[in-house]
Amino acid sequence: MCGIIGYVGRESVVPILLAGLQRLEYRGYDSAGIAIQHHGCLEIRRSEGKLSNLEAVLNNGDFVEGRTGIGHTRWATHGRPSEQNAHPHRSGDLVLVHNGIIENFLVLRHRLESEGYRFESETDTEVIAHLLSSAVKRGGRLDEAVRQVAHDLHGSYAIAVMSLTEPGRIVVSRSGCPLVIGLNGTGAFLASDVTPLLAHTREVVYLEDGDIGILEESEIHILDSDGQSKTIPAETIHWDAEAAEKGGYPNFMMKEIHEQPQVIMDTLRGRFDYETGEADLPDLSMTKEELLSAKRFWIVACGTSWHAGLVGKYLFEEMVRRPIQVDIGSEFRYREPMIQQGDVFIAISQSGETADTLAAAREAKRRGARVLAIVNAVGSTLAREADGVIYTRCGPEISVASTKAFTGQVIALYLLVLHVGRVNDVLSAEEGRWWLDHFLMLPGHVEHILKQESAIESIANQYAHMNNFLYLGRGINYPIALEGALKLKEISYIHAEGYAAGEMKHGPIALIDKEMPVVVLSPKDRLYEKSVSNLMEVRARSAPVIAFVSEGDHALDKVADHVFAIPDVHPLLTPILFTVGLQLLAYHIAIQRGLDVDRPRNLAKSVTVE
Ligand code: F6R
Repeated sequence: MCGIIGYVGRESVVPILLAGLQRLEYRGYDSAGIAIQHHGCLEIRRSEGKLSNLEAVLNNGDFVEGRTGIGHTRWATHGRPSEQNAHPHRSGDLVLVHNGIIENFLVLRHRLESEGYRFESETDTEVIAHLLSSAVKRGGRLDEAVRQVAHDLHGSYAIAVMSLTEPGRIVVSRSGCPLVIGLNGTGAFLASDVTPLLAHTREVVYLEDGDIGILEESEIHILDSDGQSKTIPAETIHWDAEAAEKGGYPNFMMKEIHEQPQVIMDTLRGRFDYETGEADLPDLSMTKEELLSAKRFWIVACGTSWHAGLVGKYLFEEMVRRPIQVDIGSEFRYREPMIQQGDVFIAISQSGETADTLAAAREAKRRGARVLAIVNAVGSTLAREADGVIYTRCGPEISVASTKAFTGQVIALYLLVLHVGRVNDVLSAEEGRWWLDHFLMLPGHVEHILKQESAIESIANQYAHMNNFLYLGRGINYPIALEGALKLKEISYIHAEGYAAGEMKHGPIALIDKEMPVVVLSPKDRLYEKSVSNLMEVRARSAPVIAFVSEGDHALDKVADHVFAIPDVHPLLTPILFTVGLQLLAYHIAIQRGLDVDRPRNLAKSVTVE
């Protein structure tokens, strides 16, 4: 998730771009850049790190003038954060900014290289710049070039491009990524969301997939994907800039919960070959032989990422029958783990900076293991030190409590396990395709749960005054019971415990009474009857029961106080769906208690100390 901005008009463009980028920094902040058209020249300024670094470059006597320009603040997906990889990217007379992921960029890159194009960055974006430049050279107008190139691009994008051959004009287009445009008395504006536009206009147009916008000082012309003119009615925005930053949601946590269908798609995007039923993970940098010869897999992480790792254990064991051990970072680093040369060590982290996870990964490397990172922050220490990486492509997670990062991590694990299964031939091509089909249905299932938010909110409101909660799950949903309890305690400050349901009678059952709501995860799997027995034990002790079940299961309707159904999916796919439900439960309990869910007390987003 990156931020893009642009302006063409009568005002000086640099202050408009910088103010806009400031408002977009929450979408990405690992590098930033601007390009300005001025007197037949393209001036590009870029810098690694926060926007303040770019501002320093411009304030350092390197200020550029102009009235047409585009800007970008980056959250890396392809290529580490660096000045070279920062946008805008130039090819010949044109320059471009891009938000999104081009799935087939490697194929396109090889084609362009064979045609003589030289690449200066590791990004997928530069491919679009060269493709457009090539189309313009063949005699096309810029908007026509954008329309042609769109056919070559697989993936998602919002782009803004300008060319010296068409001064005073910016052409934009989108597919799968948002793009908003607007006009005021001074000129035309574009941005990846409405936030930076609010200082200039409240009347905006949201482009639709495939649309092309041509922005000039006093008019905006919109074409559809066939090149026909179209009109999209403007919408009036009533939000203030802060609400707009949160996409109209009351806080980042809610926004990030709702981004999960997109996160699932982005993490899967371009990473599988449907024909062969394989996962395609080139950044793993591991040969088939290395994967096959690994005696043991390890997963190490902290907090919510550790819960994702525990889900991974069930996936490795059930889907590909490989031995795997899961550890907490702070425990692993001080044990004498029996890790061997050639073992595969998977470190999972949203930030890629968690001290204990990093220390564990370094220890594993020292002992000869191959370190793979499942990480969200591109260019983070973990990503740089690992031998191979799967990025979760969630965009910045701003709310302290992790939500969408967890979902991205579990999706990355599905891909990794599928990859191992296909390499080992434990999974056939047909089975691989079956799993891919079902992974691709997950965004729809998550949408379905999000639509039922009000049902969860009403349950939350009834129990928000309680002081203790118990979460029970079995098998692959035992880690989800842990995650549900963690989410609740983090943001609502209610004491909550997650337990393997079968362990309940070995102690915690003593706590159960009518003052302790119990959340039971009870999907229709082979452990269903056992989960129901646990639920009955809880019920017999008068605890209020909130059951999360599979759609179509009405057996618990009269037994539990509340029943919430998730779509009926394969048991190994239930964790993400239950987690979304439990995130909403924790969220609404915290809101009902009047708490700041984005900044819970005593917690930091990135735990860089022991
Ligand atoms: C929970 C949470 C923390 C993190 C943990 C690891 O909501 O945010 O438990 O999951 O601190 O952080 P990362 O994933 O950045 O290593």
